[in-house]
Amino acid sequence: MRARTSRRKSEVRSPNSEFRNSSFGARRSSLSPGRRIERHPILTFEDRGPVNFIFDGRTMTGRQGETIAAALAANGIRLFRHAEKTGRPRGFFCAVGKCSSCLMVVDGQPNTMVCMEPLREGVKVERQSGRGKLT
Ligand code: FES
Repeated sequence: MRARTSRRKSEVRSPNSEFRNSSFGARRSSLSPGRRIERHPILTFEDRGPVNFIFDGRTMTGRQGETIAAALAANGIRLFRHAEKTGRPRGFFCAVGKCSSCLMVVDGQPNTMVCMEPLREGVKVERQSGRGKLT
């Protein structure tokens, strides 16, 4: 029988413990009130300028070069739409344009995959219910 240890998981040191304990550096910043990956053990993120956009009537800020989905996630928005048949909430899932979980209305155009759509200044983003209707 194995002896139990009293060390907590967070007390165990490893070469990558800095990243493990900090959720890959996700933290709040003045540019994004939600969670955003700021540091990563392999990737680097250039700090590009801010981009303002509108989500359901609220002005939010993202960063140049990111997708609409990434900007929404950084602003704490997890619910992107409701499924057509079940009405279940959907959000960011595959992030590579394969699952259609992130369909939203962008500048009046429904069924836009926001995980593939670049963020633009002043773009108007709305949640979609069901199939979405052209306005
Ligand atoms: S999150 Fe899967 S297509 Fe956008």
